[in-house]
Amino acid sequence: MDWGLHNRLSRIIKPDTHRTVMLAVDHGYFLGPTHKLEDARETIKPLVSYADALMLTRGILRTSVDSGVDVPIVLRVSGGSSIIGKDLSNEGITTCIEDAVRLNVAAVALSIFVGTDFEHQTLMNLATLVDQAQAYGIPVLAVTAVGKELGKRDVRFLSLSCRIAAELGAGFVKTYYCDEFEKVTESCPVPVVIAGGPKLETELDAFKMAHDAVEKGAAGVDMGRNIWQSEHPVAMIKAVRAVVHQNMTPDEALDVFEKNK
Ligand code: 5RP
Repeated sequence: MDWGLHNRLSRIIKPDTHRTVMLAVDHGYFLGPTHKLEDARETIKPLVSYADALMLTRGILRTSVDSGVDVPIVLRVSGGSSIIGKDLSNEGITTCIEDAVRLNVAAVALSIFVGTDFEHQTLMNLATLVDQAQAYGIPVLAVTAVGKELGKRDVRFLSLSCRIAAELGAGFVKTYYCDEFEKVTESCPVPVVIAGGPKLETELDAFKMAHDAVEKGAAGVDMGRNIWQSEHPVAMIKAVRAVVHQNMTPDEALDVFEKNK
């Protein structure tokens, strides 16, 4: 792997643990003002120093994050559809690579929608983005999105999507946790991180999911709503870090959460 590309990836996936706790705050790109992310600056500010990377769009980066901040940026560069539109999977590349370079990003992120009407288009988006980003030594995070069809979150579909993303040159892949998750990580030659998905019923549920994912080979999490929709977001991210970087059990993480809330 090219030195620059490897160096950027090492800023996100920490070399000492080979894991990462990314904070996802890109939801507005198709959901608009998501609950508890209405004022992105307010949401991000107390959490940023606990995140190994911030995943967001250029609009929120420029308006809502101080440029002096010392956190690797994973810039979402796909979009073009909304939750109320015809088809969420009809995405294109929304940001040119020169703007990503200007923003000094550590990686760029793009969603692929395997199995949808826009499978070909979004896979070609990925291939194009890999070509563009590779020229600057910037890794690409492929997000194996499922659109509105959350039922697709099974091991066959997610293994297929992650493997295709890696084959097309993604440097790392983001997917959902599922039963038999080890099959997803074992058949994907690049690091896999999990999204948290909608807020779970309890904090312990979120710790269990993160714990089981890393135990089954995930390189960590790219979590949003389960952190910043919590009543105690800082305690939440600290506890998730304990699971991901210190291999704490879900119960131990709950202790961390209780002590920090
Ligand atoms: C949407 C995304 C989000 O960043 C992702 O879903 C992570 O956030 P959450 O943990 O809230 O699911 O990529 O496509």
